[in-house]
Amino acid sequence: MNHQFLPWYRRSPISMRRFYNWIHPIYGLIESHLGPKLDQVVQHLMGNLAIAPGTTALEYACGSGLLSLKLAPYFAQVTGRDQSEGMLQRARRRAISAKPSPEFRMGNLLAIDEQAGSVDYVFLSFALHLFSRTQRQEILSRLCQVARKEVIVIDHSRNSDWLTEWVERIEGSHYDEFIREDFAGVADQAGFARVLESEIATCMVLRFQKKVKQGKKIDLNNE
Ligand SMILES: C[S@@+](CC[C@H](N)C(=O)[O-])C[C@H]1O[C@@H](n2cnc3c(N)ncnc32)[C@H](O)[C@@H]1O
Repeated sequence: MNHQFLPWYRRSPISMRRFYNWIHPIYGLIESHLGPKLDQVVQHLMGNLAIAPGTTALEYACGSGLLSLKLAPYFAQVTGRDQSEGMLQRARRRAISAKPSPEFRMGNLLAIDEQAGSVDYVFLSFALHLFSRTQRQEILSRLCQVARKEVIVIDHSRNSDWLTEWVERIEGSHYDEFIREDFAGVADQAGFARVLESEIATCMVLRFQKKVKQGKKIDLNNE
């Protein structure tokens, strides 16, 4: 990126909820843009994660279930949570013919209510950039407690393009500062052992990995 992307405004959480309740009927346009990218990311991740039988996943800010539906065949259970009833209705409609089907229910990333250690993997797809630096740190600290293994963030590339910049201006997100974030520092403060960052299909993929208890070291070859 060789220029400074400047936002027009930042949406409040209430305005963000109204925005997604308003745009869910036309979210298909976004699904057709992000869907093929997520296919490649999921293919890459599933080739690396070695998911054991019985493994569970939670997707926060799941929107219309784009990622949750792609994850469902790989996990024993996938739950998608979002604060927009409109997006959840769209997700449930899209899941009608899916087997296995994720469960979709209301959930707020700014008031995470899962029990500690209640799920193996937590996913966030094209959502973390919506939040301020302080909120991102708080969200990742909470999710570090909720996930037994990893928190996996998939988001827009650090190399912004004009389409993403215009969409993010309209969305009123924090994408401009998100793409300059030091995620190693964030991971450390949130209580993770480390974060692995890669760029797949022009998406930023961040794997926040937990500390292993009882003096066990993370196996660096098992990624
Ligand atoms: C860009 S969409 C991404 C949706 C989906 N993850 C995907 O990849 O298509 C962002 C989603 O974040 C949700 N969202 C925004 N703020 C949230 C919050 N505080 N808690 C839960 N979901 C939130 C919105 O309702 C919307 O569905």
